[in-house]
Amino acid sequence: MGFNFKKITEKIKNLKNTKSEHELDYTALPEHIGFIMDGNGRWAARRGLPRSAGHKAGAEALRRITEFCDKIGIKIITVYAFSTENWKRPQKEVKALMGLLSQYLGDAERELAGKNIVIKVIGDITTLSQKIQQQVIETERLTQNNTGLLLNIAINYGGRDEIIHAVKQIAKEVQADRIAVEDIDDQLMSQHMYTRGIKDPDLIIRPSGELRLSNFLLWQSAYSEFWFAKIYWPDFNSQHLLAAISDYQKRTRRFGGI
Ligand code: IPE
Ligand code: IPE
Ligand code: MG
Repeated sequence: MGFNFKKITEKIKNLKNTKSEHELDYTALPEHIGFIMDGNGRWAARRGLPRSAGHKAGAEALRRITEFCDKIGIKIITVYAFSTENWKRPQKEVKALMGLLSQYLGDAERELAGKNIVIKVIGDITTLSQKIQQQVIETERLTQNNTGLLLNIAINYGGRDEIIHAVKQIAKEVQADRIAVEDIDDQLMSQHMYTRGIKDPDLIIRPSGELRLSNFLLWQSAYSEFWFAKIYWPDFNSQHLLAAISDYQKRTRRFGGI
């Protein structure tokens, strides 16, 4: 990837309306950003609306942020849509969330496929409805040859679940004498995560005011930078994203070195 000054200048020009106080270095963008899309319920409650209305507004925010990330040149985003713990919620809410996910995937086949975005789903999808599983396969298939932003959607995803899944796979390979115990290292573990082949997130953004990971990308976030803000996800916009990237660019990443 060479430095394309003209392309970057154009991008900055296009951003003139949205970018004001955050001066960014577009040659040093985080390559991979994780989003914990939290605060939908509180966003709705504040407006006297049902939680499902918050989730609907959250899905809209995702559409806007995905397009914006693609526009400014972010390569990968991973969004937390439904955790392995979210099944604890009332059945009505789980149903509404699954309905929205299905709608999102259905729309994505039509809308995003034309927009050059690659969509992948991470998490244990085997327990989701047949319809959603089919939609996941179809959306991934339709967008696999696109060359733009990679959008990873985490559905029925849990960091611990992912690590257990990886350990079980590796244990089976050891049992079958395909690998030796001594071969188990960082790289091998990474290769057995749902995110295999994808760079670890440089930046993880969590709106809503909560200061925790809630089981998101536990393995991959070892050296990620974090950005938290007291905004509800449906209100999260391009200005917030630029602020997060601007903060990120002021940090020194040492990875344990000096
Ligand atoms: C995030 O919003 C969406 C999911 C977890 C699926 P929440 O539903 O957690 O909203 P709050 O945190 O209760 O406001
Ligand atoms: C994290 O949010 C999961 C998603 C955004 C999908 P939660 O709302 O489930 O997290 P907790 O319960 O506040 O930790
Ligand atoms: Mg929440």
